Amino acid sequence: MSDDAVRDELLRLENVDAWYGTAQALFGVSLSVPRGGVVALLGRNGAGKSTTLRSIMRIEVRTRGEISYAGRDLTRAGTTGVARLGIGYVPEDRRIFGRMTVRENLLLGRHLARGDREPLPLTEILDTFPMLVPLLDRLGGVLSGGEQQLLAVARALVGRPELMLLDEPSEGLAPLTLRQVRTAIQSAHDAFGATVLLAEQNATFALSLAQRVAVIDTGRIVFTGATEELRARPELMSRYLGVESAGAAAGTGS
Ligand SMILES: Nc1ncnc2c1ncn2[C@@H]1O[C@H](COP(=O)(O)OP(=O)(O)OP(=O)(O)O)[C@@H](O)[C@H]1O
Ligand SMILES: [Mg+2]
Repeated sequence: MSDDAVRDELLRLENVDAWYGTAQALFGVSLSVPRGGVVALLGRNGAGKSTTLRSIMRIEVRTRGEISYAGRDLTRAGTTGVARLGIGYVPEDRRIFGRMTVRENLLLGRHLARGDREPLPLTEILDTFPMLVPLLDRLGGVLSGGEQQLLAVARALVGRPELMLLDEPSEGLAPLTLRQVRTAIQSAHDAFGATVLLAEQNATFALSLAQRVAVIDTGRIVFTGATEELRARPELMSRYLGVESAGAAAGTGS
């Protein structure tokens, strides 16, 4: 890799093993996320996508190997330390506070702003997520799955993350909501300059956003390359992602 490529790398995993207790879930995972890029980590149920994100966030799993972010060694940071470095994490379960309003949930995102950066004002967030405006005074607990997902992405953005880790944002969403979530992620990238690592099993959705892709299967990375390279490999799409024709994953789903 050239010096330029190394300088432009925001997140890097090198030969990472991970365990839950004594059960190993990741085997030598290597992954590189360039600054300003959108990278998809694709794989089926149980492939190790969430475990990879938890390894980065230092949650639940024990790891071995190198995980570095903006040149810092994350394996020495605790969960709070990682968030303070400017990583916005939206976990699988979204963690919306059910008894707080949408506005209060958004304001909570301020606590995750890095010490040296002001949180994003709510008005700026709402310009990008206009669909949240009519929901501001509603309780988090009554939102639909799609609304919760939008709120979770918006809340992570409040802290002005340089990197966003999104765990299956498409899960359980109907096509219309899926498009809104897709737009929200695209805006996080375009309007706020966030680098994005997206864990997904919905290849159509993920490939419509990502420039680069890594495919994970039983805890091992089995493909890394440009989105177009994966699209040109129908056998990989079928074997690891259950996509039966490359054409099916070529659209944007919108
Ligand atoms: N808390 C846990 N304790 C023990 N094993 C776990 C735990 N979480 C995940 N695993 C195991 O680790 C492996 C990888 O799981 P992981 O949740 O990372 O998969 P995934 O790709 O995110 O799947 P999904 O698409 O279903 O969310 C699986 O074999 C799973 O059973
Ligand atoms: Mg998962």
